[in-house]
Amino acid sequence: MHDDGSDLKRRGTPESFPVGRKMNVLLTGATGYIGRRLKDRLLGRPGVRLRLLVRNARKLRGELPPGGDVVEGDTFDPQTLRRALEGAETAYYLVHSMGGGGDYERRDIESAINFREACLAAGVRRVVYLGGLGRRQDASRHLRSRIETGEALAGRPDKLELIWLRAGIIIGAGSASFEVMRHLVEKLPVMITPRWVRTLTQPIDVEDVLDYLVLAKDAPLKGTLVVDIGSEAMSFREMMLRTARVMGLRRTLIPVPLLSPKLSSYWLALLTPVPFSVASALIEGLKSETVAQNDNASRHFPQVRPESFEGAVRRALESMARGAVVSRWCDSGGGAACDLDKGEDDLGRAVCRDVRERPLRGLTADAVFVSVKSLGGRRGWFRFDWLWSLRGFLDKLAGGYGTNRGRRDERDLEVGDKLDFWSVADIREGKRLLLEAQMKLPGRAWLEFKIEGERLIQTASFLPRGLLGRLYWFATRPFHALVFPDLIRGVIRRARFLK
Ligand SMILES: NC(=O)c1ccc[n+]([C@@H]2O[C@H](COP(=O)([O-])OP(=O)(O)OC[C@H]3O[C@@H](n4cnc5c(N)ncnc54)[C@H](OP(=O)(O)O)[C@@H]3O)[C@@H](O)[C@H]2O)c1
Repeated sequence: MHDDGSDLKRRGTPESFPVGRKMNVLLTGATGYIGRRLKDRLLGRPGVRLRLLVRNARKLRGELPPGGDVVEGDTFDPQTLRRALEGAETAYYLVHSMGGGGDYERRDIESAINFREACLAAGVRRVVYLGGLGRRQDASRHLRSRIETGEALAGRPDKLELIWLRAGIIIGAGSASFEVMRHLVEKLPVMITPRWVRTLTQPIDVEDVLDYLVLAKDAPLKGTLVVDIGSEAMSFREMMLRTARVMGLRRTLIPVPLLSPKLSSYWLALLTPVPFSVASALIEGLKSETVAQNDNASRHFPQVRPESFEGAVRRALESMARGAVVSRWCDSGGGAACDLDKGEDDLGRAVCRDVRERPLRGLTADAVFVSVKSLGGRRGWFRFDWLWSLRGFLDKLAGGYGTNRGRRDERDLEVGDKLDFWSVADIREGKRLLLEAQMKLPGRAWLEFKIEGERLIQTASFLPRGLLGRLYWFATRPFHALVFPDLIRGVIRRARFLK
């Protein structure tokens, strides 16, 4: 894990904390891509008393060390906001509603206004927000929403300071844009690309983003300050070619005028781990320039000297090779996959089930659980892996995640982790793993492994939506008859091998 204290020193930037004073800091979005990393950085700082506002505390991996506490809540719930912000001097706003789909712009503004008002009521001095780089006049839908969020947070500059950092493409292991780029570069020696790969952008190393975020909480500034951050400006084409060079590959890009945004999004969704919705948001973002509009980063944060593009790519690839991926673009979910209690209720009423059992036959529960936890990702799904891949491919065609999200870590699983087209809804070591399906389905589906006494019980449950849901379940029964017995047998077999 990256140690921020040492890194800031390496860059010659000691932070200015009044000795002996602890700042009360609230961090939102601590289960997301940026927030999870910022949490690790802030928890290591002696001058910070950190509180996290999360929607599901079980998604926080591991225990929080002393000096950190957690409030479970939501920016749409004023009561939990009040509790979370009580006594806070600085609050990080790293939340957005895109995962919920639909009218996320309206929800984003409402969430930001709720947060601003709760900060004012609690006497918070400063909010630090990370939004997107770019200009309003040619902003994509997503970027416009990020701008409106910043404007809502900035609504009371007399009472509440705002440091509004704006970043473009973030280069880091597990970030959506980096994953897309890496997959394309790895898989395609020759790429037919849309014309707008010539659009300029200003990528930034995720570690630099964290440096700015950490420093922003006590920079001597007043009112609202917009700080555009990024390293060298370059076109997407250049970014791909330079990424290929770092990976030791030679690639050719051929821009053609005919490739429409929709076609490009399908192409991206099929070849890379992101679903169609994320692919089209990325493609839409590529059409307009995302470069810094001010020099506030170098003026107010001269201590941060942004890493070169090649350095950032190298660092991201190294983290992946070491299996040290702190957070991924898909960590945050619309919440559904983690609604464990709701899931269990629903499960109780599910009409469709496929239950299989196997004796442990001398294996310990722990050994079998290691095998359960190793499912999916690079190790696959046993003999009928091709059927799972086919299901993943169909899911991709339908706009879903498919199976090529893989997993964050090949052995470890935590609540909220994504595993191919599943999300971990519950994990109790040696006892139970509950996966909730994130594929496009006419209903909700779960796959559960439970160890009870000397038996492993595997249950696939499906809560169908309407007639189509029921037809779907019956149509897939022949495949289940192949896949599910093989799955439980495979888990036991692998447990002997992994023992
Ligand atoms: N990642 C990038 O490449 C990038 C680039 C430029 C700018 N940014 C900006 O950085 C900020 C953070 O982005 P991110 O990529 O870290 O997002 P992310 O991974 O999608 O995480 C979003 C976080 O917000 C939480 N959340 C969502 N709605 C909430 C609500 N109503 N109440 C409380 N928490 C809620 C999510 O919780 P759950 O886990 O429960 O869903 C999750 O922890 C955004 O403003 C984004 O525009 C990101």
